[in-house]
Amino acid sequence: MNNKKAIGIFDSGFGGLTVMSEIIKEMPNENIIYFGDNARTPYGNKSSKLIKKYSLQDANFLLSKNIKVILIACNTSSSYALSFLRKKIKNIPIYGVLETGAFACVSKTKNNKVGVIATNATIKSNSYSNYIKHINNNIDVYQKACPLLVPIVEEGFSNKKIIKEIISEYLKFFDDKSIDTLMLGCTHYPILFNYFTEYFGKNINIINSGFEIAKKLRFDLESLDLLNISNKKPKYSYYTSDNADNFLEISSLFLNNIKSTKSINIEKY
Ligand code: DGL
Repeated sequence: MNNKKAIGIFDSGFGGLTVMSEIIKEMPNENIIYFGDNARTPYGNKSSKLIKKYSLQDANFLLSKNIKVILIACNTSSSYALSFLRKKIKNIPIYGVLETGAFACVSKTKNNKVGVIATNATIKSNSYSNYIKHINNNIDVYQKACPLLVPIVEEGFSNKKIIKEIISEYLKFFDDKSIDTLMLGCTHYPILFNYFTEYFGKNINIINSGFEIAKKLRFDLESLDLLNISNKKPKYSYYTSDNADNFLEISSLFLNNIKSTKSINIEKY
């Protein structure tokens, strides 16, 4: 039965695990296959050409696992490769994380002023701004690349004072913009959620792209009769293009209970 097949998720590395955790909360019966391209991470400072090439290989790997849907958890890859992949792969649905995130920004903002933080490549692509303005052209979108936040999370860096200083240095860009909604346009940022609320205070909507896509994906799988309704314990499989032991060690910063990971050669796909 097609609905028992797994959801395939890929990301440039660990960050997509924050998206996977939202998928698990929303759809606890689903089997999931996760691929992290740790050998070639980060995507956030790569060219459009490379991001597309890598994303196609990532998707091809997942396709070899007989999945029912592909979710591009990576914002950078969603920005550059979503329509490219949809043209190349026609037999199963492919989702990115941008559309639903942008839609949430539009529905939440009251004053039509939205901030977006993301990797350099995502900001350069203007993808969030384009999606938001496509829905409502009256919204002002202010964008800021925050490239240091990815390594801070990935290194498990825990000096709160320094993290606060770096985040303030980035976010002060928004001080005179009166935004009431902030899009966390990068997989790693939900882990720093409390720092963002601390900086802005409670009067801001903070949008997590993983949370938003999980609701949409559930809705669509249900409509397509692809939702897994079995009561069997779901199976989660993890693959990385780099060293499996490293993946196991660092992945716990993003998602608990990952017990085994397989290393694959992504260049073969
Ligand atoms: N996963 C990426 C994103 O959401 C962040 C890490 C990277 O630059 O590869 O944009």
